[in-house]
Amino acid sequence: LKLILIGFGVVNQSLTKVLSQKSNDLLRKYGLKPKIVAVTDSQGTAINPEGLDPELLLRVKQLKGTVGSYPRFSQPSMNSIDVIENVDADVVVEATPTLGGDPEPGLSHIRKALIAKRHVVTTNKGPLAVAMPTLLNLASKNDVRLRFSGTVGAAIPILDLIEKCAKGDKIVSVSGILNGTTNYILTRMAEAEIEMKEALKEAQRLGYAERDPSCDLSGLDTARKLVILANLAMGKQASIKDVEFTGIENITLNDVLEAKKASCMIKLIGSASDRLKVEPVKISYNSLLCVRGAMNAITLKSELGGEITLIGKGAGGPETASAIIRDLIEIKCSITESIARGKILQ
Ligand code: HSE
Repeated sequence: LKLILIGFGVVNQSLTKVLSQKSNDLLRKYGLKPKIVAVTDSQGTAINPEGLDPELLLRVKQLKGTVGSYPRFSQPSMNSIDVIENVDADVVVEATPTLGGDPEPGLSHIRKALIAKRHVVTTNKGPLAVAMPTLLNLASKNDVRLRFSGTVGAAIPILDLIEKCAKGDKIVSVSGILNGTTNYILTRMAEAEIEMKEALKEAQRLGYAERDPSCDLSGLDTARKLVILANLAMGKQASIKDVEFTGIENITLNDVLEAKKASCMIKLIGSASDRLKVEPVKISYNSLLCVRGAMNAITLKSELGGEITLIGKGAGGPETASAIIRDLIEIKCSITESIARGKILQ
């Protein structure tokens, strides 16, 4: 499987590490032999159709700050779109950050990749939050897959579960903690009795926060994830414009400590039923949603199955890399199936 990595921040660096460490397992268990043929970051590009060396990519990035310094195979004249359109590859892994309210450049990367008939795996919520139905249609029209497990819940296979649950049953609501940074901040404020500013610095150091952490605090990151969940789980055609959201910026240490006195924690909860809503809510210590640190907790309610709650790490490099790997395995299986189907038809 030839991969193009777009963006080489925490997520794609973690992916590169994991692919290199687990190469034997991936080949033995899933027949997956990923080869990174191109990588772009905001300052440069490296391309080698024979495969770039993962260790060297990571070293170059660490020492020089850009993959553009990769020896012999740097391609300064090519930007991300040139690479997506011209480098021979099976899958584009789009992991650029979502900046502020702008879905670009991720949206163009994904569009161009689908039009060029490349499968896409993305961890970028911005493009899906504004154009999920259109992008899924484009993928299907071009007979390729668009997978996005890493956009919601990172290590939690919530999107896979939704695909399974939705068969033969009807999901009527989805709610939970979808943002690791705000959960980490609110937990630290309650446990260490520190101010929000200090807790945010810790979350940034741990790699949970968005490049622009105001997206976490304002509830925008949760709102984007809620759109993705609601569209997939409940067949909505929602976009970010359909979500009413309030963040945690105005929550004070005093509010958190008052909640603590009542055996509650304040959590930023996203919920989708008839309406899509994000807001801080007081949650009792006894609730399944009362998880701590950077954990996410998501409850699906379906007509037949009732409530199912998944809890796990919703942010972080290795956790998000695990979601990308699930998507790559899924794509590999669908390629293998369609080859087999072609053979049967012949
Ligand atoms: N900033 C996000 C969070 C990263 O804290 O949950 C994972 O989507």
